Amino acid sequence: MRYLGLVAGLMAGGMFFACTQPTLAQAETDVSVLAGTCTNCHGSNKNWKGVIPGLAGRPEPILLGLLKSYKAGDPNATVMSRIARGYSEDDLQAIANYYSKIKK
Ligand code: HEC
Repeated sequence: MRYLGLVAGLMAGGMFFACTQPTLAQAETDVSVLAGTCTNCHGSNKNWKGVIPGLAGRPEPILLGLLKSYKAGDPNATVMSRIARGYSEDDLQAIANYYSKIKK
C-alpha cells in the first residue's frame, strides 16, 4: 500500500514521457536537431573560437559544396567524410541553409 503513491507517480511520469517524446520523424524534419549535432565541434554561433572552423553565417553554397565533397569521400577529411555520409543531400542542403542564416 505504501508504494501506491510511488507506482502512481511512475505511471503518470511514464505517460507524460510517452506523450512528450518526439517521434524520430518529427525530429528529422526539424533542421535544428540535425544541425545541433555539429555544434560540439563547430560551435553554434559566430563567436566560435575553436580550432575547427565555425559554420555560422557562412555562405550556403560554400558550406553545401564542402559537405557534398565530404559525402563523396574527400580523402583529406578525418571525420567529416564519415559524418556527412550519414545525411541525405536534402539534409545537407537544409543544414547548410540553417547555418548560413545565423546572424550572430
Ligand atoms: C567530431 C567533430 C565534428 C563534428 C561532430 C562535425 N564536424 Fe565538421 N569538421 C570537423 C573537422 C575535424 C573538420 C576538418 C575536416 C576533417 O578533418 O574531416 C570539419 C570540417 C567541416 C567543414 C569544412 C569547414 C572549412 O571551412 O573547411 C564543414 C562545412 C563541416 N565540417 C560541417 C559540419 C556539419 C554540417 C556537421 C554536422 C552535421 C559537422 N561538420 C560535424 C569536425 C566535426
